Amino acid sequence: MGGTAVKKIQQFWKFGRPEFNTQWFDTNAVGQLIVKEGNYQYNIFDLVKKYGSPLEIVFPHILEQKVENLFDAFHEAMRRYGYRGRFYYHYPMKVNQNKEFIIPLLSEGANLEVTSYNELWLLKKLWGQNHFNARIRVLCNGPKIPKYLDLIVELRNMGVAIIPIVDDIGELEYLRRFRGDIGVRVNLGVKVHSHWDKKFDQFGTTPEEILKVGRIKNLKILHYHLGSQIEHGDDLVRAAKKLMEFYLKLRQLNPTLDTLDLGGGFAVPYTKIKSYSVQGIAQRIVKTVGAMAKKAEVHPPHLIVEWGRYAAAPAQISIFKIIHEKPVGNGSKKCWYVIDGSFMNDLLDTWAIHQKWHVVPVNNMNARKLMPVWLTGSSCDVDDKYTASGTYIRLPRLEDLEEGESQYIAIFDSGAYQDALASHHCLLSSPAKIIAQDGDITIARRRETPEEIGKLFGW
Ligand SMILES: Cc1ncc(COP(=O)(O)O)c(C=O)c1O
Repeated sequence: MGGTAVKKIQQFWKFGRPEFNTQWFDTNAVGQLIVKEGNYQYNIFDLVKKYGSPLEIVFPHILEQKVENLFDAFHEAMRRYGYRGRFYYHYPMKVNQNKEFIIPLLSEGANLEVTSYNELWLLKKLWGQNHFNARIRVLCNGPKIPKYLDLIVELRNMGVAIIPIVDDIGELEYLRRFRGDIGVRVNLGVKVHSHWDKKFDQFGTTPEEILKVGRIKNLKILHYHLGSQIEHGDDLVRAAKKLMEFYLKLRQLNPTLDTLDLGGGFAVPYTKIKSYSVQGIAQRIVKTVGAMAKKAEVHPPHLIVEWGRYAAAPAQISIFKIIHEKPVGNGSKKCWYVIDGSFMNDLLDTWAIHQKWHVVPVNNMNARKLMPVWLTGSSCDVDDKYTASGTYIRLPRLEDLEEGESQYIAIFDSGAYQDALASHHCLLSSPAKIIAQDGDITIARRRETPEEIGKLFGW
């Protein structure tokens, strides 16, 4: 394939474009998917032939680059506006708890946010293995059952910089004896453009209730999480402004307060270009909060973001083999391509929130003719399908494959949330998982055997 043909493929599948999170992806001269890590590169077709499908591939270097970009963006914005607060990134563990995600994030300087006793228990284990040092801070969100509160106290006594974020005012009673810093989560109810913008939101405490408490011992952090996959950058800035307004009020009662935690929400450009960038949003947040602090004559608060999907989604791709083709029927020109895995089990957001994915062929990207298709999973459920919101995906025709060749597809940005939500409908095995790092491959999860799956169901 010549240079022009390669360029056409790059353009068609939108490779090398940061606005689509595809700067690491490319094609080789024979139309196979390549992932680049500095001077290393991984041929995805070779990997799937070696390790089989379905297969998830994790790229720690992508995680690391996303976090680096985030730090650069906020540090640059703080320099530009002479902002004298500090910036902290807290990775929300719920987004992907796999160790192969957590370790590279810690190495890049990420702090952590946990939501449950079990997540915190894993951090205790990590602490015991000397995987992180006392400079890393841990925020504890979510409703706190007694053993969760007890573990927070235990870890603090062991030297972990751990900060409980009060979700319900009732937790303050227990925390009266807590010697460390604490935070409080406010429910501001800012309306945003997102699937998660709900009329009623059960998290945090209303501003009135927080103010009613008056002075809160060792209060350091005011936290608000406005939702996930926020479609408009303006919403992120507006929420920061509202939070800062409340910060200024709360600080009059609590002069120890010195940090704003803006929560998660930065969107992933799953398919379409978003109108905002990490640099642009960092500048707008820093400028807005900085100006408000100046006007109120207070020190600018330290800033925390918990953007999880932003970092984790692009660091994993999911590979499936097309095992059958059949007509959609009803006069449609489209075909079903049946995959050897399941959307419902392994990319659950396809079903839960009608997630749009960037789908590309792993091989035959240079095919002359493409076919409009819908994808369907291997479970028995009529909802186990991906139709790109009722449009279609264009993929190579199976009739053009060489004798004995199979067609594979890659689904990009599958690193956020999908693993913890995964299930076993029809007792299909979860995909095997490999890690591609520094030019080497390690196996993170072998394909489950029938015996292993049976055990989960008491067999
Ligand atoms: C408190 C909190 N912080 C951060 C996040 C991460 O959000 P996102 O992945 O959209 O950045 C969530 C997600 O639900 C959350 O509940």
